[in-house]
Amino acid sequence: MTAARVELDRWPERLEAAIAASGGLFTRASVLRETESTQDAARRANAQAGEVFLTWRQTAGRGRLGRRWLDTFDDGLAVTFVLEADDSPRLAVVAAVAVAEAIESSCPNLRGRVGIKWPNDLIVSSRKVAGILIEQADRLACIGIGVNVHQQKWPAELDGRAISLAQAGASVDRIDLAAALVVSLSAAMPRTDEQLSDDFAARDVLHGSVATLRCGERIINGTIVLIDPMRGLIVRNESGETWIPASTATLLPASSDARATVT
Ligand code: BTN
Repeated sequence: MTAARVELDRWPERLEAAIAASGGLFTRASVLRETESTQDAARRANAQAGEVFLTWRQTAGRGRLGRRWLDTFDDGLAVTFVLEADDSPRLAVVAAVAVAEAIESSCPNLRGRVGIKWPNDLIVSSRKVAGILIEQADRLACIGIGVNVHQQKWPAELDGRAISLAQAGASVDRIDLAAALVVSLSAAMPRTDEQLSDDFAARDVLHGSVATLRCGERIINGTIVLIDPMRGLIVRNESGETWIPASTATLLPASSDARATVT
């Protein structure tokens, strides 16, 4: 039996309590009954660094690389954290590590089981449980985080590729996970690049696997022999080893057919 869910009218106080206890990185929360995308809600509100936008239902969420993020009614968590922009990949690493830590602190059965697939997909049992979209403009970064929380089934194109926390045997309310994200992002932000790289490496699921990357105009296929999430990757194939700077690299889907994927 699944536990009763916390009602929407209790969400603002729960999120504000987490913000008040989290040390000052975040200062203000907006909770929306429904919005197309929390990224756009933040932009429309002229949000400043420190603001958090959380919605009960997101109807037209977007993912990285122009993909769509599935509307799963009240089953998924959709939240945007607004912070000062950063030219380096640092925010992507902070966010990936923080999402993994928030899931593990909220779901005891998943401790030690949340992996990161570079640059910032969160993986449980070889399937995607959460994704992160960072959009930067006007010296602000909107860090959009989507987590699969209560879903029990998926459309055919996601079957076998997506997983929810419920399907992984974890029972957590979306607002508690949002509160845990406030805490984990606040804890991860002050860490040094070296510490964050170590945290990333401890969860890295791509290292050692064969992958296809786009680097500018080039498509490179090979074994990932090194991932430094702040700087780049080394791919080895019959032509030798190639260094690919993180800023120019995109990981292509395993069976890449350029089709827009919904994850
Ligand atoms: C990805 O894996 O491609 C990133 C998915 C990011 C989805 C989140 S849900 C909250 C925020 N609002 C959006 O429209 N997208 C992000």
